[in-house]
Amino acid sequence: MRFQDTYGPYALVAGGSYGLGAAFADAIARRGVNLVLLARDEERLTATAARLRDRYDVDVIAVTADMADWDSVRERLGELTASIGLLVYDAAYAPIGRFEDVTDEQLAQAAAVNVRAPLLFAKLVSAPMIERGRGGILLMSSLAGSQGSPNIAAYAATKAFNTILAEGLWSELKPRGVDVLACCAGAILTPGYQQAESAKPAPGTLAADDVAEQALNALGKGPIVIPGAVNKLGRFVLTRLLSRRAAIAFMSKNTGGLS
Ligand SMILES: NC(=O)c1ccc[n+]([C@@H]2O[C@H](COP(=O)([O-])OP(=O)(O)OC[C@H]3O[C@@H](n4cnc5c(N)ncnc54)[C@H](OP(=O)(O)O)[C@@H]3O)[C@@H](O)[C@H]2O)c1
Repeated sequence: MRFQDTYGPYALVAGGSYGLGAAFADAIARRGVNLVLLARDEERLTATAARLRDRYDVDVIAVTADMADWDSVRERLGELTASIGLLVYDAAYAPIGRFEDVTDEQLAQAAAVNVRAPLLFAKLVSAPMIERGRGGILLMSSLAGSQGSPNIAAYAATKAFNTILAEGLWSELKPRGVDVLACCAGAILTPGYQQAESAKPAPGTLAADDVAEQALNALGKGPIVIPGAVNKLGRFVLTRLLSRRAAIAFMSKNTGGLS
């Protein structure tokens, strides 16, 4: 009951139609909380919504929206009457390859989807949460955002932004009853990851269900969660033991070959 009481009656998952976002939606519905799911592809979104409605007997509202277009997202959200007790911001865009080959449009897309939208989303949903004195905001970040990461430099920087934003809001909103959390994940077996990684999965790769479960269980317990023991150790080594230069060199072994 605690999860429903704290984060209900509706959780909004931005990017909730497949991959990790769908795993979040599943884990939240299993906890008895209704859902608002946002994504671009209507067919996939409505199929996920129908599956969750059938499986868990919760209300699931599907809203087709592109996080890159914040004005239209805000307009669509303005039409909702559902009261949002939890935001999970999962959607992301990662321009992959050498910086010189990445286009201005790709960089603008990464800034819009990974920075502008979660920032304005957090602002939008936190106001009524503060008023009610309860709620949660979970921002998906990445271990790639712990240090510079070649060939995904812009993506990694946007993820660092999400971690720092969540930490600041965690401290600011905790006394107002709102739990904020950054989930700094390592590799996750999602369609997005499988598309980007041609080689075998990196050490510590987790299933999406596992990451969603660990992240939701960490809400209210601190500003950051790092799912998986290997990833916890990895972040400790990267941020506490190695120099910045050595951490970047270590990361470059994983991301330097991405194209
Ligand atoms: N996968 C990994 O290894 C990994 C590792 C660390 C952190 N993360 C983080 O975990 C999150 C999920 O990662 P993922 O790439 O693996 O994706 P995913 O969970 O497989 O799914 C992406 C979801 O976001 C939606 N989406 C994507 N762009 C969108 C947009 N512009 N507007 C609205 N919805 C959008 C997709 O639906 P539509 O395409 O229909 O819009 C889909 O529902 C991201 O924040 C990522 O940075 C991932």
